[in-house]
Amino acid sequence: MTLPAYDEAYRASLDDPEAFWGEAAERIDWVRRWDRVLDAEAEPAARWFVGGELNTAHNALDRHADGGRGDQLALVHDSAVTGEVTRFTYAELRAEVASFAGVLAGLGVGKGDRVIIYMPMIPEAAIAMLACARLGAVHSVVFGGFASNELAVRIDDCAPRVIVSASCGVEVARVVEYKPLLDGAIEIAEHKPDHCVVLQRPMARASMVDGRDVDWVEAMAGAEPAGCTTVAATDPLYILYTSGTTGQPKGVVRDNGGHAVALSWSMDHIYGVQPGEVYWAASDVGWVVGHSYIVYGPLIHGCTTVMYEGKPVGTPDAGAFWRVIADHGVVSLFTAPTAFRAIRQRDPDGELMADHDLGTMRSLFLAGERCDPDTLAWAEEKLGVPVVDHWWQTETGWPIAATCLGLEGGGVVPGSPGRAVPGWDLAVLGPDGRELPPGETGAICLRLPLPPSSLPTLWKADQRFVDKYLTAFPGFYETADAGYMDSDGHIFVMARTDDIINVAGHRLSTGALEEVLTAHPDVAEAAVVGVHDPLKGQVPIGFLVLQVGSERTDEEVVADVVGSVRREIGPVAAFKSAVVVGRLPKTRSGKVLRGTIAKIADGNEWRMPATVDDPVIFDEIADVLGDIGLPRPGA
Ligand code: COA
Ligand code: AMP
Repeated sequence: MTLPAYDEAYRASLDDPEAFWGEAAERIDWVRRWDRVLDAEAEPAARWFVGGELNTAHNALDRHADGGRGDQLALVHDSAVTGEVTRFTYAELRAEVASFAGVLAGLGVGKGDRVIIYMPMIPEAAIAMLACARLGAVHSVVFGGFASNELAVRIDDCAPRVIVSASCGVEVARVVEYKPLLDGAIEIAEHKPDHCVVLQRPMARASMVDGRDVDWVEAMAGAEPAGCTTVAATDPLYILYTSGTTGQPKGVVRDNGGHAVALSWSMDHIYGVQPGEVYWAASDVGWVVGHSYIVYGPLIHGCTTVMYEGKPVGTPDAGAFWRVIADHGVVSLFTAPTAFRAIRQRDPDGELMADHDLGTMRSLFLAGERCDPDTLAWAEEKLGVPVVDHWWQTETGWPIAATCLGLEGGGVVPGSPGRAVPGWDLAVLGPDGRELPPGETGAICLRLPLPPSSLPTLWKADQRFVDKYLTAFPGFYETADAGYMDSDGHIFVMARTDDIINVAGHRLSTGALEEVLTAHPDVAEAAVVGVHDPLKGQVPIGFLVLQVGSERTDEEVVADVVGSVRREIGPVAAFKSAVVVGRLPKTRSGKVLRGTIAKIADGNEWRMPATVDDPVIFDEIADVLGDIGLPRPGA
């Protein structure tokens, strides 16, 4: 198939979105065709393929299993931590998914019911997701690096009938028992699931609660396979929680129809990958990248997807990615820049590549955080294939900007994640809502309506959705990223405009961290800022003001709060440092000057904000940062 060039496709997508996406939708099997491609007037946001009916799992599995790909590998699970590789053909994966759908149905799960999946990177996580899709149930995957409290918040918000989990995950140096975290979360949550299905892994056996907990293997043994339930294109496929500015995460909703169409289109047009080829997103099913490009995108497109349980380094070394590429014949890899920084740190000359045949590899895609040009150049030089930085968010579900390899999208401009992908109408706006000329930094926004697969709302929170995304700039979706565009339309995404920080490609809310810190009885006030880290991009640092009369030492309080973040939010927050200060620098209206603190901590140039209430406080901040090894101003 020849694909139209980028400019032509881009114009077509904006000039006549209904014709553009209507044609793309022919790639999908529909039970009933749509009445309207786009309902731009729908509230709170546009809906796609209204009146259409389909099943996502059918599109990801059955149509391939029955259409000539039954013996092709659908999923290869490669575990660098257990040394095992498990392969499923399309026929085998369909059978597993149908059986697990039968298990869920037997536990009372039906169309529209929610199911939380809290699992490590094992094939059963993908099987559980697809089984929900098969039943028309709504899954909500919770990343394994989150602890009980975060899980409990999600349980209460989406009220699952069933939770699917495993006894443990395996990290580099330790086995992480999931079941005690799950039991703890259920205890904290007000909503109680009817059942938990637990996969017992040999590294740690979970204790089961009689009458509530069901053993995965035993349940599968007697399961009656379930067929595909037809759902509306606009019915939710999943909810994925992502950090907001408070401790209450946002439940991003994804629909079935637009999602299938956009992901299918993206696989060849953006990633340049064809059905039958092997595609690998080295992410986690707990993140949007895992949803879109470990599970749904490659399977809907008829590819073989690789699911990797391991790290870029340490399992066992910085050659792990090269081994996986060579062993499975990967044509395109997608990961976060932090993974490449980790590999480069351990193996700066890429010597470990020489041990593996990387001949199948055609491209590397990076996303999740800004990619520094240095890392991009290193990857390009060592791999000798196009390295594409591309930009997106949990909310959008697929890339907003990229160099579309299937569309002759032009060369990569280092420091930029490329131009707007067809469907996305990008604008950089000033505070007055006017579009800024090329080169000027402002709020990056997307003109409405958003294309298929972008979020139609937040779970049970239409008003929050409108307030957060659609209100600041009427007629636009506010991405909360700031940056600029060059005269050729390349976007440069430089910083968040809210209190979100990005730690090793993981999105964290400083507000949520602050809530944990201020819950400590000796802490009167707290601020968390993200400071530069050469490996993880950013790491959080806490600034604590202690209660008058606190009898504990600074060190004791710091140790307490580091422990409570790990316990309540999870190890993924990588919260290891906090300092005690006399006061927090604030504006006269009482807003904590986090941005200025971050600049000081990063050793960047900073100016005394005109509105600061007490300039001297910054000297103290600089001193305490120096004490924990961070640069002093001007250093
Ligand atoms: N279950 C339980 N714990 C988990 C976990 C999981 N699924 N994932 C991470 N953790 C824990 C880790 O064990 C670590 O704990 P520790 O403090 O005891 O060491 C902590 O959370 C931080 O983990 P991580 O962010 O993975 O950092 P790391 O220092 O172990 O490894 C990198 C650094 C760069 C190798 C790693 O962050 C990485 O591979 N990042 C890529 C991220 C990515 O793919 N993002 C998705 C966007 S595409
Ligand atoms: P998440 O929702 O977890 O995928 O995080 C989305 C956020 O990560 C975006 O809003 C950006 O702030 C950041 N991000 C993702 N990809 C990129 C990229 N390629 N360049 C710069 N920032 C990125």
